[in-house]
Amino acid sequence: MNITKLKQSAYKDLENVNTESALEQVRLRYLGRKQGQLTAVLRGLKNMKPDERKKIGKQANIFKQKLLYIIKQKKQELKKAQTAQIAGKKLDITAPGKKQEIGHLHPITQVRRQIEDIFSSMGFSIIEGPEIEKEYYNFDALNISKDHPARDMMDTFWLKNGLLLRTHTSPVQARYMEKNNPPLRIISPGRCFRHEALDASHEATFHQVEGLMVDKTISIANLKGIFHALITRLFSKDAKIRLRPGFFPFVEPGFELDMSCIICRGKGCSVCKQTGWVEIMPGGMVHQNVFKYAGYMPGEWQGFAFAIGLDRITLMKYKINDIRLFYQNDLRFLKQF
Ligand code: DAH
Repeated sequence: MNITKLKQSAYKDLENVNTESALEQVRLRYLGRKQGQLTAVLRGLKNMKPDERKKIGKQANIFKQKLLYIIKQKKQELKKAQTAQIAGKKLDITAPGKKQEIGHLHPITQVRRQIEDIFSSMGFSIIEGPEIEKEYYNFDALNISKDHPARDMMDTFWLKNGLLLRTHTSPVQARYMEKNNPPLRIISPGRCFRHEALDASHEATFHQVEGLMVDKTISIANLKGIFHALITRLFSKDAKIRLRPGFFPFVEPGFELDMSCIICRGKGCSVCKQTGWVEIMPGGMVHQNVFKYAGYMPGEWQGFAFAIGLDRITLMKYKINDIRLFYQNDLRFLKQF
């Protein structure tokens, strides 16, 4: 390759360069280790006759030094120009600052914590139990015998090792009473699992807050009192409550506890299906058989139990209409709380 021609084309290329990356391209074109044209000339020197090698070698090396020098200069120029351009832009000191995004608690966790605070202030302890549970605690110890029809309602996820995913938080009652003697008052929040069809009000994973209070003279009046305190503190001072009969094998008598609809204030709307009431939790007076399983003396103790549907209450509190939104982790939804 003719050094003079190489020079001409290199200088022309360098003239047209106006960005750092274009400059780097030019450098590679002539001085690149693999494809540089000048590099190729230098590499070819060893095959030349001695006097030719001396002549071309000298020219090529001088050219290389020059090229390196120009490239270095050019690089500095480009850098300077760039800084000047940035400095030339005015700084708008009135522009609003960039907001740092910070995370927050999931709406279910927020309401769970409020409920925990309310019950703590009434002397209840917060107890957690396992999500993978034994059949005994999930069913038998709660007076749900092997052939009891209530088992069918539970749509249980069974595990290969004979254990199951708890279908409710009630097994924590059985576990706690087995190890602790009355008087006692506990709540137990946590996740539950049921193998069921999903829709706007059913999820395979959901949350309950189990409650249990046992002493010598606990009555339905205490259950009502506690429920009223919960509802008025969580929703509004003038919320009303009512009890309807309900059946659960582990309580006798059993109830459905309703509150007046906070959306329409009892007048009737789509949320309360025009009844003015919404179901908040089931509960009742602990069945003496459950005490028996726990090892308590039959007839000696009385108590109430309940299970707050945490998802339901959170839906009500924030006026959300689909339980599935809680578990999809869509940031557009979550950011609203
Ligand atoms: N464990 C029941 C369920 O998930 C709900 C329940 C009903 C819990 C009555 C209670 C209770 O503690 O007294 O279907």
